[in-house]
Amino acid sequence: MHDLIIPPKVSIAPMVDVTDKHFRYFMRLLTKKALLYTEMITCEGIYHGDEEKLLAFNSVEHPVALQIAASSVEQIKKAMPKIKNWDYDEINLNAGCPSDRVSGNLMGACLMAYPELVRDMLFTIKEYTDKPVTVKHRIGIDGKNILPSDFKRTLFDTYEDMHHFVSVIREAKPERYTIHARIAILEGLSPKENREIPPLRYEEVYRLKEEFPELSIEINGGFKTIEEIKAQLDKVDSVMIGRLARDNPFVMKYVDSIYGESSSSKLTRRQIIEEFISYAELCQDKGENAYYAIGHMDGLFLGKRGSKRWKQILNTPASHNIKASELLRISLKELPQEVLDEV
Ligand SMILES: Cc1cc2nc3c(=O)[nH]c(=O)nc-3n(C[C@H](O)[C@H](O)[C@H](O)COP(=O)(O)O)c2cc1C
Repeated sequence: MHDLIIPPKVSIAPMVDVTDKHFRYFMRLLTKKALLYTEMITCEGIYHGDEEKLLAFNSVEHPVALQIAASSVEQIKKAMPKIKNWDYDEINLNAGCPSDRVSGNLMGACLMAYPELVRDMLFTIKEYTDKPVTVKHRIGIDGKNILPSDFKRTLFDTYEDMHHFVSVIREAKPERYTIHARIAILEGLSPKENREIPPLRYEEVYRLKEEFPELSIEINGGFKTIEEIKAQLDKVDSVMIGRLARDNPFVMKYVDSIYGESSSSKLTRRQIIEEFISYAELCQDKGENAYYAIGHMDGLFLGKRGSKRWKQILNTPASHNIKASELLRISLKELPQEVLDEV
């Protein structure tokens, strides 16, 4: 049994091309408590693909949640036997991703137009696991030109629409609802624009928590400081953080203070880099791409002296034949010592 706190107070969001096992290892140096999510992985990919490559993780990552995407109960049935081989602390169903690739296949956010299907998918996941099963969705969707023409309407963007969605899927008793507090516009906006353009509507998430006090509600979208995150906990059960963790990871070392730890982590950038040197060496020994792994630390000096030099060092062309672990050693010599040692 791992030290999984349910509901977590803070989780680090699923982010494709970001929250792979290397990023999660990096995050775990900064916070021992936050729940870490994998990238979204499709059930079809899991069924047909290389299980080890897609699902393996480092035991230090616990508590860690796997996020899956599927468009049918059958896909889930095919993938779950493989997923069961891995000791994830939670399985999360994606009903919030707006990408064309995903919505075109009836996955991600467009599932909000199919609450009964989402409910049945959650039921199905539960048949295979005793671990918490959770769902991540949006406030609503605009499914114009994406949802089939036999739909009476394609706009599901009112509070009442979300209320209906939650009322149906709660029959499957998901352990947590993570709500990205803006709608997803399924046609005409890129995934990036869908994280920026539709306005944030936090009030509707708070209202949902008021009307369903027994449900564990996690709010997501746009939080930029530890103070903002803490303030949310007066209104909802937990907060999911995405881009802040990617772009300014050093802030994540204050997350454990939210859990009432007597003090925040005392880890300095130097210590983080030293830890990651050993990790990069392990990756190199296993023949893994350690350059890719250290690339996840890109934001470690955000807003600090040395930030530009740090990025240059991390992006040293492979043709220079310097090992990733060696690049990190170089950074310890070249970057401003006071920034490296800042607590
Ligand atoms: C690069 C990137 C990839 C993402 N991939 C996923 C994903 O795989 N699954 C998912 O549910 N959300 C994904 N998201 C959305 C985030 O989980 C989160 O909901 C969103 O970024 C809003 O939170 P934030 O404002 O704290 O970043 C992604 C976001 C980013 C920036």
